[in-house]
Amino acid sequence: MACLPLIVHNERRKRIGLAITIWLQMCTVAHSFLVALGAIHSLHTYRPRIRSYILDFYAKRDYVKRLVYASDETCIEQVRINRTAFFKLCEMLQSLGEMKSSRNMLVDEQVAMFLHIISHHLKNRVIKHHFNRFGETVSRSFHNVLNAVIRLQDALFKKAEPITGNSTDPRWKWFKNCLGTLDGTHIKIRVPTVDKPRYRTRKGDIATNMLGVCTPDMQFVYVLLGWEGSVADGRVLRDAISRRHGLKSFRGTKRKWVPEEDAALVACMVDLHNAGTFNADTGFKAGYLNELEKMLEKVLPNAMLKAKPNLESRIRTLKREWSIVYDMLSGKNNSGFGWDEHR
Ligand SMILES: *[C@@H]1O[C@H](CO)[C@@H](O)[C@H](O)[C@H]1NC(C)=O
Ligand SMILES: *[C@@H]1O[C@H](CO)[C@@H](O)[C@H](O)[C@H]1NC(C)=O
Ligand SMILES: *[C@@H]1O[C@H](CO)[C@@H](O)[C@H](O)[C@H]1NC(C)=O
Repeated sequence: MACLPLIVHNERRKRIGLAITIWLQMCTVAHSFLVALGAIHSLHTYRPRIRSYILDFYAKRDYVKRLVYASDETCIEQVRINRTAFFKLCEMLQSLGEMKSSRNMLVDEQVAMFLHIISHHLKNRVIKHHFNRFGETVSRSFHNVLNAVIRLQDALFKKAEPITGNSTDPRWKWFKNCLGTLDGTHIKIRVPTVDKPRYRTRKGDIATNMLGVCTPDMQFVYVLLGWEGSVADGRVLRDAISRRHGLKSFRGTKRKWVPEEDAALVACMVDLHNAGTFNADTGFKAGYLNELEKMLEKVLPNAMLKAKPNLESRIRTLKREWSIVYDMLSGKNNSGFGWDEHR
């Protein structure tokens, strides 16, 4: 009799065990069903997990690392300066340009963004995707760096050297004391529809008329922006000249003649007249200017007087200035004006 309760106990245990096993299996099935359901659900409403600040920060810097710090080669290709120069620029922008790292972005990332934009003419939309930032952040950083660069002008802006009197560059030696040459160009821009007519150039583009001055080594030293594309270049130039501290333009192509050069010119003309090879009925024969140029070159080797613009215009000026004297003396044979007697 004693074993009956035992058997009953065993049976009850087995039954309980079975019930627990079934229960557990049901739980497992339910669980996997729920997980599957959750996965399907989350596929439709996927949101990236909010990562910690630190992780996010390093993930975002990844692009800067590849862009700038990977090697000098990629650095020069992507931001047009090498890593040493990049470091130096960042340092200057921080110390002199009063630039600061923001909570989420260090100075170097902002500078890399800025340089990348200006070196490849990239759009905000491209940059924001590459750097994994908001478009507004990109725009703000760009302006931060731009303002800091402007504050660096005393350190970075190299003053142009005027062309010296002894310059031998065939293209530039005529422009003594000039800094460079100016020209206008059109830069395409985007403006509100109401402003479009004003900005339409004669070629039909919507652009702004920019005036720039370039030194002989192709560095910009002056830029005037903001005129509408429909405006003529002359008006932009007049604005540039009339501004306070404005542009000083080279007044005409007049050469300043010193008295010795005038005397030499007159002497050479008298010699030429006396030599007689170029004499004609009413003055000199064609080609006498070139002969004069050769003669003057012997007398004044450094003056670099050219037949066409210099001598021709000076002789015209001399004739005008001295015509009164010539009239007074006409009829008399005066050695000093003998060369002019046929005119
Ligand atoms: C980096 O660039 C600067 C300026 O362009 C130059 O002076 C320097 O030698 C360059 N450094 C290297 C390592 O190429
Ligand atoms: C040209 O003149 C300047 C001074 O006006 C002088 O410093 C320079 O060495 C000269 N250059 C040449 C090539 O003679
Ligand atoms: C000027 O000189 C020429 C000869 O050289 C002479 O024929 C002429 O009569 C002179 N004229 C006057 C006004 O003296």
